[in-house]
Amino acid sequence: MPIRILPLQLANQIAAGEVIDRPSSVVKELVENSLDAGATHIEIDIKKGGSKLIHIRDNGCGIPKDELSIALSRYATSKIASIDDLENIMSFGFRGEALSSISSVSRLILTSNTAYQNEAWQTYSEGRDMQVIVKPAAHPIGTSLDVLDLFYNTPARRRFLCSEKTEFQHIKEVIKRIALTSFNVSLVLTHNGKLISKYNAVNHDTKIESRLSLICGKNFIQNALRIDWHHNDLSLNGWIADPNSWNKIPNIQYCYVNKRIVRNKLFKHAIHQAYQIQIRDNNHPPSYVLYLNINPRDINVNVHPAKHEIKFHQSRLVHDFILQSIINALQTNSPTDYTFYLKSIRNLQSAGDNQFIQPVILSINDKENSFLPLSIEKNKELNNEQNSSILKKDINHNINQKNQLPVETFGRVLHVFDSRYALLEKKDSLKLLSLSVANRFLKYTQIFPGKGQLKSKPLIIPILLKITDHKIELINIHSAILNLIGIDLQVEKQHLILRAVPIPLLKQNLKKLIEEMLNYLAHQQNVSIASLTEWLVDQQDDEKSYWNYSQAVILLAELEKNSPQLLQLPPSNLIQNIEIKSVINELHK
Ligand SMILES: Nc1ncnc2c1ncn2[C@@H]1O[C@H](COP(=O)(O)OP(=O)(O)OP(=O)(O)O)[C@@H](O)[C@H]1O
Ligand SMILES: [Mg+2]
Repeated sequence: MPIRILPLQLANQIAAGEVIDRPSSVVKELVENSLDAGATHIEIDIKKGGSKLIHIRDNGCGIPKDELSIALSRYATSKIASIDDLENIMSFGFRGEALSSISSVSRLILTSNTAYQNEAWQTYSEGRDMQVIVKPAAHPIGTSLDVLDLFYNTPARRRFLCSEKTEFQHIKEVIKRIALTSFNVSLVLTHNGKLISKYNAVNHDTKIESRLSLICGKNFIQNALRIDWHHNDLSLNGWIADPNSWNKIPNIQYCYVNKRIVRNKLFKHAIHQAYQIQIRDNNHPPSYVLYLNINPRDINVNVHPAKHEIKFHQSRLVHDFILQSIINALQTNSPTDYTFYLKSIRNLQSAGDNQFIQPVILSINDKENSFLPLSIEKNKELNNEQNSSILKKDINHNINQKNQLPVETFGRVLHVFDSRYALLEKKDSLKLLSLSVANRFLKYTQIFPGKGQLKSKPLIIPILLKITDHKIELINIHSAILNLIGIDLQVEKQHLILRAVPIPLLKQNLKKLIEEMLNYLAHQQNVSIASLTEWLVDQQDDEKSYWNYSQAVILLAELEKNSPQLLQLPPSNLIQNIEIKSVINELHK
């Protein structure tokens, strides 16, 4: 077949497929147009699941008579005028495609009136390329759209429609999603003349919750934790399921970015990761209704014709912000707590400059370094007295060898025995390594301050703790050690503000950890970097009891990188030689 330009109508119908794939996408586009027009009341009447009629009527600003025909043309929009506007979009629509797409696959009647006209006007168009007829009509200020016989001229697509009931369910879902974000707009949905949903406009907080409960169910709102976090241009609000009430909460997942419902993997990932870190349960998908507000310049909404996908320019920053907000909400479990806290710490200078995407590098100068041996000596004495933990036995051995160069590797992992021991082959010898001890060494080296290593990470939202005078004194006494470890705790009046912690501690319930650490410090006579690091390692409650082969390989690679000195003279509780020669001799007996 020779190459030829497709007729305009066919081109439009093909393009329409990307925007309009079923009646619910027509409803979504038309209701979003009404919202963009400032409507506060929208009626949606559906007949036969939307395949016979979709009627949307709003009380928005209306379309002037002389713009009615052009509104149906492709790329006709009043929402952007230049490429720069694309970077600053706050309206739902901006592509100028929806009405033209809908009109190319249906019989469309558009009726509208504005505050500046004496009468309403109506256009009728059937398929694209038909001449649009404009005639006077009766209509109050606002707009009505009647979409009749959807896909009448594209039989293949009409055949793909599901049952009337299923198509209507999709429409109902679209209205629910809109009702969850446009709280100040009333929405009335009918099907075949029967009232199905009615969402009255709400402005007050308590009423917002009643709309939420209408849409997501009473159980959701009664068992949800409220989120309300801000940082510079970013804010995250909404509700997340209280993990203690999994069984009572329906499966609901709605993410909005600047009021637009979105499908965004990063957003979802941050939520799931927060639950995994905090609850360590990935059997239940978390339920949530979350609203992220972000400077429109920091996102790209023009990713897909249906406009439900977006891209964040600073994806790492947004991910970490969502992650930390949810972790904190899950830890705090009490909305009142953080309302107070927000007031006092919002947009702190120290949290600015996107510090949270750059891990802090703790450099230890020579003077600070001289602090180390002293602490280690103290720690040795302490260890002699309390020789209880596995680590304490060999920790000094580990640190004293710190400046020596790495030799090679622990060996090749041949097998993981009993899910806890790695059988290693090195040259001609076989060794058995305890994976749990290796893991503790790794955690130790990740927390213990080292030259030029990435040790701590500022919290996006610092944590506020109320403390007594006695504890303030403790912080002052131990501030040097805390700083070296990377715990940034500052005293402000009767409060402690936690601004950064070593990276491995980020998974902990930090509020609880710091409170327990203060109790620990209060009961210790000698505190050194080593002893505090050990204590912090002991508090990590993610002890693994099962290791598979690849986890063992990754662990050993990390340990070799972080603690090369361990290779030279591995402690006896970490590694043991297997006397293979004596076994061979036995065979020859
Ligand atoms: N209900 C309405 N009230 C007032 N104006 C409307 C309404 N619906 C559409 N319009 C006008 O018609 C124009 C075209 O609408 P259309 O939905 O095709 O494009 P858009 O909303 O600008 O972009 P998109 O294709 O991304 O939705 C809009 O820009 C708006 O000016
Ligand atoms: Mg639109």
